[in-house]
Amino acid sequence: MSIEEGKHYLLDTYAQVPVVFCGGEGMYLTSEDGKRYLDFVGGIAVNALGYKDPGLTAAIEQVLEQGLLHCSNLYYNSQAIAAAKGVTALAQMDRVFFCNSGAEANEAALKLARKFGNLHTPKKNQIISMVDSFHGRTYGAITATGQAKYHAHFDPLPQGFSYALFNDLQSVKALVSEVTCAIIVEPIQGEGGIVPATAEFLQGLRDLCDEHDMLLIYDEVQTGMGRSGKPFAHQVYQVRPDVLTTAKALAGGIPAGAMMTRGKANAIFKPGDHASTFGGNVLAAAGINEMVRRLSDESFTDHVQQMGSYLHGKLEQLVAQFPSLCTAVRGMGLIQGVVLSIPPRTVVEACFAKGLLVLSAGSDVLRFVPPLVVETVEIDTAVATVREVLETLQAE
Ligand SMILES: Cc1ncc(COP(=O)(O)O)c(C=O)c1O
Repeated sequence: MSIEEGKHYLLDTYAQVPVVFCGGEGMYLTSEDGKRYLDFVGGIAVNALGYKDPGLTAAIEQVLEQGLLHCSNLYYNSQAIAAAKGVTALAQMDRVFFCNSGAEANEAALKLARKFGNLHTPKKNQIISMVDSFHGRTYGAITATGQAKYHAHFDPLPQGFSYALFNDLQSVKALVSEVTCAIIVEPIQGEGGIVPATAEFLQGLRDLCDEHDMLLIYDEVQTGMGRSGKPFAHQVYQVRPDVLTTAKALAGGIPAGAMMTRGKANAIFKPGDHASTFGGNVLAAAGINEMVRRLSDESFTDHVQQMGSYLHGKLEQLVAQFPSLCTAVRGMGLIQGVVLSIPPRTVVEACFAKGLLVLSAGSDVLRFVPPLVVETVEIDTAVATVREVLETLQAE
């Protein structure tokens, strides 16, 4: 199929790079014109196991052999029960609602928070989120997203949201009142520019939520499933949420999302309150089970920590070498960003021309979210390519 046909038939929601991918293996993608690309985007933090992973392939094949691809949530299916048990254990949460995407997981969390608050007397239904956050593109999720550019042209938005400054506890405290039911926060802001929360900030939010009987919701759509170097970023910070959302890498590339609950959030939803036809779909649940199996082995997350430190160190060398183009490195595990003083798009495009996929985050960050199975040899190749690009840009 041609790119022209893609441009004609697909709605213009993405600024797409002119390439058609058709296959992949390990850390590399292949395009229809036969070129190989080293992938440090990983489907934007989705393809945690890289491409053609034997374990994920076997899990999918097993579902196909058994013949049950999908089973309505009117009934139980064993893959979904196993996935629920496995992912809640991995996340240190109690219960889970399965859906299909990050936005959908956050919608479930926002609805659960509103119901939790509306059961109080007087009712609590206001939600606090952070400036520069990103929670997805559905109505609740874009409203929770603290970036005006995502709101433009889509009004009227749902009511009852206010925005505090990330990593500024005083600004959150100033918004809390007796009608606040929840705070939603990313432990590491992803789309906002790879900004990790401070431990004090998350602990402060935890204390505020306990003091005012509010739910603390962590959006780990991008940071969950091993990316931070622990199964979930809250385990790095050791500050736990009441509600946890995740998606992206949850099923290793099969569409899946999850909203998990703990303690007082466990029994808010009753039959009929919320649903998703495809949530806990057999194929997706089999993918989740394979991801849980892999992440339950500590050597997997140890590898992410080691590769994350290695990548971080290499990126710091770039900052030291090109102080006029790069100013800082931020990140944790295998979600890393280099702050640039030039538009990231310039670097992304030049890297693409040299066979390396990287992407931007926020207005000034070059983002690296490779498959978690990346090795030092691929990090060396990727950083060498970025170095070549920066050398050329510096000379211009
Ligand atoms: C932190 C966070 N939350 C939510 C989303 C939305 O996820 P999805 O695109 O699967 O709806 C994203 C996507 O980038 C994200 O990074």
